[in-house]
Amino acid sequence: MEKSKLILGIETSCDETAAAVLSFSGHRFKVLGSAVASQVAIHKLTGGVVPEVAAREHVTTIMPTIKLALEKAGITKEKLSAVAVTSGPGLLPALMVGVDAANALSMSLNIPVIPVQHITGHIYANTIDTDLKKLKLPLLALIVSGGHTEFIKMSGFLKFKKLGRTVDDAAGEAFDKTAKILSLPYPGGPEISKKAALGNPAAFNFPRPMMGEDNFSFAGLKTSVLYKVDELTKKKKLTEKQINDLAASIQEAIIDTIVRKTEKALAKYKVKTFTLGGGVAANSVLRERLAKMIAEKFPEVKNLETKKEYATDNAVMIAAVGAMKLWKKEKLPKFAKANPQWEI
Ligand code: KG4
Ligand code: ZN
Repeated sequence: MEKSKLILGIETSCDETAAAVLSFSGHRFKVLGSAVASQVAIHKLTGGVVPEVAAREHVTTIMPTIKLALEKAGITKEKLSAVAVTSGPGLLPALMVGVDAANALSMSLNIPVIPVQHITGHIYANTIDTDLKKLKLPLLALIVSGGHTEFIKMSGFLKFKKLGRTVDDAAGEAFDKTAKILSLPYPGGPEISKKAALGNPAAFNFPRPMMGEDNFSFAGLKTSVLYKVDELTKKKKLTEKQINDLAASIQEAIIDTIVRKTEKALAKYKVKTFTLGGGVAANSVLRERLAKMIAEKFPEVKNLETKKEYATDNAVMIAAVGAMKLWKKEKLPKFAKANPQWEI
């Protein structure tokens, strides 16, 4: 039997600086140490992520974050078998910080550097602590985050095919941008979902476009909310009740769209497993509605539960894909290179 490998993961594609150490024995990922330095407080000041600001933060936090992950794992860097790093997609100046750090570690420790595509990381996030021998493929993944909304089919452990994506805004972006219209702080997803719990989801009827397709579009929702809020604020400020009702109706439009499209995709692609990943998967109403639909309409499909602690950006998921690439002896480049447009 081959010895288990220790992989360091690094993630700096957007607004979290993250590092993690994972062990992999060929069928199960085990998290030894994970550290995430969030920049949310900084980006709240500008109501969104400014790439250069994010990159500057990554520069100051990357080394302490790697050190913390190693300390949590109780190992020294000399014990590492490889270093995996998010190489794309993402913000170029932000990606470059993680990639530089990974290349430097690879060179000084004389270990391989493994470039990882960020979205594949979001899929693998839900396989942590799962026995991979029991995971039935093909798997349909729906990744809903601040930058992405994609249906991906995984037919082998490193065999991915994109089936659909957003043609404009991502689901998380729809939450964030409509929250801004309601003057709620960044990031909007958690704010909208808090207010939504107090409001009526049928108060306003917002659009659910492209229902018959695998692709998504959320830009129309933002425009529709903008018009509605303009109309409501002609005479006076929004009341607390109106804000709650708007939040509930926005969340309902996004969730209803996602659930109905997932139902169509499951009927069309006939997979054995489904999984929901990405930051928006932190939304409990979305998770419950998807689980209910799958249990009722596709009882033969296993719903691989979202690992809530690894739904938003982290390095555990990046280390997991890296470990799999190392295990499968995928051909690796000498150095990783930031690739902001890297598509599956
Ligand atoms: O995966 P992630 O951390 O970063 C990207 O790769 O984009 O996702 C962040 C997104 C943000 O748009 C945020 O508003 C959204 O996830 N989000 C939520 C919730 N928590 C985070 N959206 C809806 N409901 C939530 N509870
Ligand atoms: Zn992400």
